[in-house]
Amino acid sequence: MNKVLGIINGTEFTIGDTLLELSYLVAALLFVTGLKMLSHPETARKGNLWAFGGMALAMLTTLLLHKDGEGNQISLTNIWIILAAIGVGAAIGWIIARKVKMTAMPQLVSFYNATGGAASALVALLEYPNAVAGDVGSILVTVLGLIIGAVAFSGSMIAFGKLDGKVGDIMKPFMTYLNLFLMALTLGLGIYIIVSPNPPAEMIWAIYTLLALSIVYGVMFVMPIGGADMPVVISLLNSFTGIAAAMAGFIYNNQAMILGGILVGAAGMILTVLMCKAMNRSLINVIIGAFGGGASAASGEQGTIKEITLSDAAVLMSYSQRIVIIPGYGLAVAQAQHIAQELDELLEGKGVDVKYAIHPVAGRMPGHMNVLLAEADVPYEKLVEMDDINPDMPNVDVAIVIGANDVVNPAAYDDPGSPIYGMPIIDAHLAKNIIIMKRGMGKGYAGIENALFFNDKTRMLFGDAKGSIQKLVTEIKSI
Ligand code: TAP
Repeated sequence: MNKVLGIINGTEFTIGDTLLELSYLVAALLFVTGLKMLSHPETARKGNLWAFGGMALAMLTTLLLHKDGEGNQISLTNIWIILAAIGVGAAIGWIIARKVKMTAMPQLVSFYNATGGAASALVALLEYPNAVAGDVGSILVTVLGLIIGAVAFSGSMIAFGKLDGKVGDIMKPFMTYLNLFLMALTLGLGIYIIVSPNPPAEMIWAIYTLLALSIVYGVMFVMPIGGADMPVVISLLNSFTGIAAAMAGFIYNNQAMILGGILVGAAGMILTVLMCKAMNRSLINVIIGAFGGGASAASGEQGTIKEITLSDAAVLMSYSQRIVIIPGYGLAVAQAQHIAQELDELLEGKGVDVKYAIHPVAGRMPGHMNVLLAEADVPYEKLVEMDDINPDMPNVDVAIVIGANDVVNPAAYDDPGSPIYGMPIIDAHLAKNIIIMKRGMGKGYAGIENALFFNDKTRMLFGDAKGSIQKLVTEIKSI
């Protein structure tokens, strides 16, 4: 391993160094391929495994072959400590991942993201004293890693608290200014540390103050953002964690870490932009917090509600040609995906064409409906994206809305005063008949009334979605 193969820029290059670089290249290929596979539900599971393989390879070769600036490999004692830490972390992660409910997945993602941000900030904090005074490049990446990692940590912890219902939204008008002031203070101190000619040993106070300021800024940055916007923020914080990890990669001059961090950073940023687009909002609008938090547009009586009996619903569905199921957050709450699939199969058996209309922000996390329906073995080709199904909605005999609300709210088209005005929706209102399954007249995440419930073509089937569909299945079987 230590046989010298050649000298590049005055540095000896051994077999071990070559293997390490090669393994990073393979890891990079595995990351990119895995990421690509994650973009489709059919390949997502495998994609996760490929990316995991890349990470495992990079970790293994780093442990065995990485050398520090003086050419020393990681000591055996440190390898054992690292392996023990990995073991403890993996065991905790495994237990939590197995126990977590599907509806609590966004919180979990947020919590894991916080740990990633904290790890990068700690790397920066611990490595700062080793930086050389005046080496602007290395101090710059250290300071950036510390700020971005700490903001991602505290911001994600607040996001976790909000999604878990433990932390409320605090939206005071002065907070925007306070946040701008805090950001300026944090960046100012960061710049001071970077340009200061003092040796790092004399700047320890400054780096700890920077850590504290960044943590406070992360809290203040996420605090005023409305609950409904949390997934956008989580995705943004996820991208921050990626960038912080890339900075940590620069500190250690580790290509796998740099590349992995950049991939996470870029993917998080793309997802953030896509979600903003799906809600027809700008990122600034999300960050300043103009949505969610219970804003109420059209409220009060909007017409009369018509209910449908189970037997009428069963007959209507059985004698339809085309049915579109529109799932929403209520499907996740009721865990009605398996029984919905059974209903679909039953109707297909009667010659009805059944499809699912998938809104990009239905539920509480990106791809929420896809994950639930995949879990129930609904074939992927039955899931149709909003833009593809909308032109077809006027030809649909029955739109069955299962626990969805905001994503089928026509106020998005016709009520400029509504907080969801301009958000693309699934055009359930254009179907010939609309059946809405929900427990009562509860509002959706945006906290607003929905005119679709009062539409002439709409009939409500009240009750928990799982129970209602179960009864429908029994009823249809008896026809
Ligand atoms: P929502 O608008 O939140 O509506 C869900 C509806 O489900 C509620 O009106 C509720 O009415 C009903 N429900 C709850 N539990 C039920 C159960 N056990 N059985 C039957 N129905 C039940 O859902 P949506 O249409 O999916 O819209 C998602 C909203 O969340 C959007 O505003 C979106 O912007 C926001 N959001 C999305 C994301 C992402 S990335 N997906 C993340 C955060 C927020 P009842 O109480 O009357 O039953």
